[in-house]
Amino acid sequence: MTGLLEPRAIGRGFTRRDGPAKVTGTAPYAYEHPAEAPLYCYPIQAAIARGRCVRISAVEAESLDGVRELITPFTAERLADTDDAELAVLQDCEIPFRGRVIGLVLAETSETARHAAELVDVQYETDPFDTRLRADDPDLYQPDKVNPSFPTDTSEGDFDTAFSGAAVAVDQTYRTSMYHNNPLEPHTTTALWENGMLTLWDSTQSVHSVRSTVAKVFGLPAERVRVICPYLGGGFGSKGMPHANVVLAALAARTVPGRPVKLALTRQQMFSLAGYRTPTIQRVRLGADRDGRLESIGMDVVEQTSRIKEFAEQTAAPARMMYAARNRSTSHRLARLDVPVPSWMRAPGECPGMFGPEVAMDELAEALGVDPVDLRVRNEPERDPESGRPFSSRHLVECLRTGAERFGWDQRDPRPGVRRDGPWLVGSGVAASVYPAKRMPGSSAVVRYEKGRYAVEIGAADLGTGAWTILPQIAADALDVPADSVDVRIGDTAFPEATVAGGSTGTASWGSAVVAAARAFRDKYGADPGDGDEAQAETPENPDEKDYATYGFGAQFAEVRVDADTGEGRVSRLHGTFAVGRIVNPVTARSQLLGGMTMGLSMALHENSVLDPRFGHVVNHDLAEYHIATNADVEDLRADWLDETDPHLNPMGSKGIGEIGIVGTAAAVANAVHHATGVRVRDLPITLDKLL
Ligand code: MOS
Repeated sequence: MTGLLEPRAIGRGFTRRDGPAKVTGTAPYAYEHPAEAPLYCYPIQAAIARGRCVRISAVEAESLDGVRELITPFTAERLADTDDAELAVLQDCEIPFRGRVIGLVLAETSETARHAAELVDVQYETDPFDTRLRADDPDLYQPDKVNPSFPTDTSEGDFDTAFSGAAVAVDQTYRTSMYHNNPLEPHTTTALWENGMLTLWDSTQSVHSVRSTVAKVFGLPAERVRVICPYLGGGFGSKGMPHANVVLAALAARTVPGRPVKLALTRQQMFSLAGYRTPTIQRVRLGADRDGRLESIGMDVVEQTSRIKEFAEQTAAPARMMYAARNRSTSHRLARLDVPVPSWMRAPGECPGMFGPEVAMDELAEALGVDPVDLRVRNEPERDPESGRPFSSRHLVECLRTGAERFGWDQRDPRPGVRRDGPWLVGSGVAASVYPAKRMPGSSAVVRYEKGRYAVEIGAADLGTGAWTILPQIAADALDVPADSVDVRIGDTAFPEATVAGGSTGTASWGSAVVAAARAFRDKYGADPGDGDEAQAETPENPDEKDYATYGFGAQFAEVRVDADTGEGRVSRLHGTFAVGRIVNPVTARSQLLGGMTMGLSMALHENSVLDPRFGHVVNHDLAEYHIATNADVEDLRADWLDETDPHLNPMGSKGIGEIGIVGTAAAVANAVHHATGVRVRDLPITLDKLL
């Protein structure tokens, strides 16, 4: 039990406190931090996929007016810690992937820096390289664990025997593409090295992890690094852990003490320096009896990492806990390629990992002649199939049933390819969503009484998700005061430690610390505190975490229209119904769920980073060619939720909602496309060439 708060401010749709500043362009982003006489950085990137640079000639570049410095592997400061090869930039001449930073220009204007960078002549020695992900690559290996610390392989019962004896079976291979996080605000930093202190205004989902990482890399005590980020223009995980750009900005600042420097990755540079979602190849095997009860679930995933740093996406994780089946087997294998370092992108693991299985469920339903909603209901487990623990709450069946009713699923004719509306073939599909509901230890908050108001301080991040708005709601209920009497201060390492805005754990983790601090404050000072009274507390342990499996669930229903002549597709309706604990703020929550669903729709129809194996770079590395969904792709987009009370999670009763919206969406769309056209697309995106 976590001592659920009585919801008064919680549950109300306060509009975003940061909204006016953001929409009027007055919320200062990292790059815009006012700085006196800044210098500007421009990274020089390797133009080969593997090898080394042997000479860097910069006579012409250095003679340009306004060029202050060219930092190369030959001149750069030696970093104190180079364990993380992604961050160990300009330390040697080796090139492990195309786009690796091999130089940095510092100049009086950003235009001069960029111009000079283009004038630098680099000579290379090239080595053979490989950037192609293949399921039959003989060098595939088994990583020690998958993100963040799950076993790579699992096995229960006797999968092989059960699957080979299955009355009805699906055995198919599904593919998801390489995807790039494209927050509107790129990865940017303003850095100042002054009086032995490094200050970074950095666009990040975690000021404290930037501080600890940068301090380690430069061998500085953490107290000599301050990181500030009150506002972000999106992140989606690419700003969840620091990348090379922040190290470059700090390196540059240390060459010009007392002068601020600014570095903004260009959109194109983000395609090799800011992480991405690995492409996956997923073999999914489902075996069922004639009544549609799953006896065996198998999922074997092949994905890629870079040669210099391992990131193993936990793609098979949801197949371990989603449906009841006594025999199950999952595995992850990695290819170590000459490619940039993959990383977090909204719902790593669950997002790609629910594509194959949820399309396979649709294929199984068709093979059985069972409705796809019913098939999922028939396979609802009583306990978590993986851990054997009860779920703290699991309302997937209710999401499916309620969602089906709201969508109008009952009228559905199961036959594929038979509905026509003018030029359009029309169909509908369903898929389930899931995301873990966790909180992280290690956040701390201060509550202080100042001039008749309450101030809450915590180093949390609001990447557009609503933290500015919901933390005061949580504090208000814990203090039993109106939300508008609470001010919040976030996004600065000057405030108490906060864990990353990632894994959909922010609200649960920070909110729990805020509640603990508010309760400590009330215990100490009662209802009538004096000016300057304050209390601080950490996110407490949650003993229930060991006894329960904790997840949010959802069901997404898509209706698509595919032009019978051209194959062009539109999602005419996309409806999600979720069971994600208590909703702290319906305005910000709906926006999170719709945002996730939109990104899932985008993954279904468009997103695809096309890597040219001859040169090793993503050729469509900008928003002109890396297509994302727009309003024209979808007409009726809705997210709603069930009332769910879960006392085992945290005092708010909330589950994380930043990521679940993207999970299952692409499968729902692919299943609807099959229902419309009769064509089963198993490799994303669903482009028109696959339908004709
Ligand atoms: Mo999210 S990919 O955990 O920032």
